[in-house]
Amino acid sequence: MTLIDGKATAATIKAEIKAEVERIVAAGGKRPHLAAVLVGHDGGSETYVRNKVLACEACGFRSSLIRYEDTITEAELLDCVKQLNEDADVDGFIVQLPLPKHISEQKVIEAIDYRKDVDGFHPINVGRMAIGLPCYISATPKGILELLRRYDIETSGKKCVVLGRSNIVGKPMAQLMMQKQYGDATVTVCHSRSRNLREECLAADIIIAAIGRPEFLTADMVKPGAVVIDVGTTRVPDATRPKGFRLCGDVDFANVASLCSHITPVPGGVGPMTICMLMLNTLAAGKREYYQ
Ligand code: GUN
Repeated sequence: MTLIDGKATAATIKAEIKAEVERIVAAGGKRPHLAAVLVGHDGGSETYVRNKVLACEACGFRSSLIRYEDTITEAELLDCVKQLNEDADVDGFIVQLPLPKHISEQKVIEAIDYRKDVDGFHPINVGRMAIGLPCYISATPKGILELLRRYDIETSGKKCVVLGRSNIVGKPMAQLMMQKQYGDATVTVCHSRSRNLREECLAADIIIAAIGRPEFLTADMVKPGAVVIDVGTTRVPDATRPKGFRLCGDVDFANVASLCSHITPVPGGVGPMTICMLMLNTLAAGKREYYQ
């Protein structure tokens, strides 16, 4: 069994990005600039955004953090998006989700200029991704593709089960694994209402678990020799930990790992890659790689 080390892979990629940024700057080019908008004080979002800012520093990017209380109105947030769209120094930006209930996430996403949408959430990027055109690809599925590639895991013609159908992970992951230029696999998407879930998983060469239920994928659902990618990051209360919780994946790692040819741990698997792919998208934004 090979443990897929997302933390080490992400560190390697960030060093590659930094080297490229220094080459660009030395040649008189512009240092990439990522802005992040954080609304409110959700614990998970605070951590993600802090890590995104730290990753920018590691990559040699400029970063700006724009904070609002969760009393901000939708109109005020839309105005902030408009300003970032128009700010020529900002190459790309993200609005951290989730947003407070009184703000429409979809409206905010659609207000972002798709050419600066380094999250890859705007319908133009989602649509371009679905038909294989150059675009920003959302960070978690992009990071998983990168792990599969860097660990030389063959996906072409393989049977891949994606557990979960979210807009951020499940749907784009399935699209990408299906496409000839990325996964080139035979893809089945399963979700909470799927029948024969165990049988579907047992037939899979590659399982990507993104269903958001701790330890959902158990050993009786995994074919020996399968590749298992765990996207889950549920905070489970744990009094023995300094923060009072631990991160729990969607895979029953203790019992599944020994069955697999490759598996990602939680933490240290997909998570670090996600932020790293946001950095790659920001580098592409700085270089105007997909859009002028
Ligand atoms: N919330 C959870 N994941 C993400 C992400 O990748 N981007 C944004 N903007 N919000 C998130």
